[in-house]
Amino acid sequence: MQDILKQLKDNAFTDIRAAFATDPDRFARFSARLDDLVMDYSKCAVDETVLSLLEKLADRAGLTAKREAMFTGEPINFTEGRAVLHTALRNRSNTPVLVDGRDVMPDVNGVLAAMGAFAAAIRDGALTGATGKPFTDVVNIGIGGSDLGPAMATLALAPFHDGPRLHFVSNVDGAHIADTLKTLVPETTLFIVASKTFTTIETMTNAATARRFVVEALGEAAVAAHFAAVSTALDKVDAFGIGAERTFGFWDWVGGRYSIWSAIGLPLMIAIGPEDFGRFLDGAHALDTHFREAPFRENLPVLLGLIGYYHRNVLGYPSRAILPYDQRLSRFPAYLQQLDMESNGKSVTIGSKPVEGQTGPVVWGEPGTNGQHAFYQLIHQGTSVIPCEFMVAANGFEPDLRHQHELLIANCLAQSAALMKGRTLEEAAAQLQAKGADAETVARIAPHRVFAGNRPSITFVYDRLTPEALGRLIALYEHRVFVEGVLFDINSFDQWGVELGKELATGLLPVVEGRQDTGGQDSSTAGLVAALLAAKA
Ligand code: F6P
Repeated sequence: MQDILKQLKDNAFTDIRAAFATDPDRFARFSARLDDLVMDYSKCAVDETVLSLLEKLADRAGLTAKREAMFTGEPINFTEGRAVLHTALRNRSNTPVLVDGRDVMPDVNGVLAAMGAFAAAIRDGALTGATGKPFTDVVNIGIGGSDLGPAMATLALAPFHDGPRLHFVSNVDGAHIADTLKTLVPETTLFIVASKTFTTIETMTNAATARRFVVEALGEAAVAAHFAAVSTALDKVDAFGIGAERTFGFWDWVGGRYSIWSAIGLPLMIAIGPEDFGRFLDGAHALDTHFREAPFRENLPVLLGLIGYYHRNVLGYPSRAILPYDQRLSRFPAYLQQLDMESNGKSVTIGSKPVEGQTGPVVWGEPGTNGQHAFYQLIHQGTSVIPCEFMVAANGFEPDLRHQHELLIANCLAQSAALMKGRTLEEAAAQLQAKGADAETVARIAPHRVFAGNRPSITFVYDRLTPEALGRLIALYEHRVFVEGVLFDINSFDQWGVELGKELATGLLPVVEGRQDTGGQDSSTAGLVAALLAAKA
């Protein structure tokens, strides 16, 4: 690997602007598509040499065999001894997928059918609350992968939302559930407790608060009618008191941040209906097939992963910005933050050695055009280069507001063009001179108006944000994370890094409650506890 990396470093170029000036076919040569989804990576610092070296790197890393190992249920999450099969959850071809010699598809289809029946009954009012009233509101209680996916996707697919209102409570901060419950009526509210492990303290604490909300208004007997659960830990759900007919299972081969396709998607299904949820799975399946079959140079997730790796490990960029010009994708950057950073924020190789070089970048972002008026200044003129990933639909869902959609598209394209082209000192000076500035003013002001340019970006365009398009987009990013993980030579599917904080929080609770002294804590923690206890009302 190191030899190819060296060649990449020797052959890296950053003059994207010059590449456009000399090659009128650059877009055609450095873009790829799957149906209506177009990926333009021509505004990145890649050429034929760089791409073929990256392909060589992928071959050397064993990408093809590793991809197949994932799709066929090998236990690639070896630190937890688990297969990684979120692709089976959307395997619309229904071909057998074996885990330990057993086909998982009958179980997958069984849960999907049970979710469909439950969602339909909530939507059409056949299933009601304890007093016989249909549910007007559904609250998903979960965190991380048990929250971000359904919350992001429900917002993204708002034009398809024809079921009850959806709410998402995740934070252990009581403010989150208190503010949500304030707007709700117990008689017409259904709670879904979503937790893969059914032990997560935030979710269990919020579920207990929701339970009190129901019991205080409607009595203990109402709990059965007002709660449902999604988990892999069916015994723990049973102990909580939620009936088997309202419990939707999934399996340890589904990672939390890859679980939107499982029963964790139940709130989304209730919002948009089982049919549209099926279309969401169809879109992801189409991308899976493309990822598995298309040659590297036409393969969107492979290209996205190769360029991501190149940005991180050859050009040394520490972060990437996700900038959807699609307001309904406003939670997509947060969703990708967990997907990418929890997967590839690692520093030990598959062979259990320290990683050489860099692994996952910091992933962040906000929707455009809002970000333009907030942090784009740094992207254009700051000292760090931040590769940007833009996305925009050709069509919105507001035909009467077509003009606004065109403004949105124009802004999106303008940003990537400005990042690439920049503005030279000569151009800045000429602009000032044209406005009548004197020579001294031009010399003093022009440098501030220079944009370095050559700042990389990838742009995705697609027809419209339908359930299929969203499914495809999420799957695209999932597989990108996989490709980068293979190149980083890490296990992208465990998350031991979140454990230490959880353990320390458990130990600190009696100290914060004042039941235990601060002996044994470091002086900073002890000082902060003392200040908080002194200010406790
Ligand atoms: O703490 C991290 C994490 O384990 C995530 O990986 C997961 O998505 C989240 O917590 C929630 O876990 P659970 O679904 O088991 O409640």
